[in-house]
Amino acid sequence: MRLARAALRRAHSPYSGVRVGAALRATDGTVFTGCNVENASYGLTLCAERVAVSKAVSEGATEFTTIAIASNKTPAAAKQGTKALMPCGACRQTLHEFAPNLRVLVAGPRGSVRATTLPKLLPHAFGPRDLR
Ligand code: THU
Repeated sequence: MRLARAALRRAHSPYSGVRVGAALRATDGTVFTGCNVENASYGLTLCAERVAVSKAVSEGATEFTTIAIASNKTPAAAKQGTKALMPCGACRQTLHEFAPNLRVLVAGPRGSVRATTLPKLLPHAFGPRDLR
């Protein structure tokens, strides 16, 4: 989470103002980080989690134990009483491709960390096994 919070500071999000940082731990202990990268052509935006996965896979790491996701607090999240953003559906699916049993830690920029798992966030997932 410390590394995710450091990555959050590098977010390029002038349009939404939402900053997200992710730190993905490979089974050998290597940690790959990512931040969200927005674009003036909004649909090209990359989420922090998928940036971290892409960095990892392109560096040869394909097995992961844990992802930590840090975000700044959005007004909507604050209203709902949640301090942290949860990963979007596209990121859940991308993570499932490589780590169906991934541990997921989410937190705001400081304070408590909430722990969950990918199977809880993406039940009845479609994945590589369905194509075998
Ligand atoms: N975002 C992420 O980085 N990860 C998620 O799982 C949810 C959304 C970013 C994308 C965009 O820059 C901003 O949050 C608002 O959608």
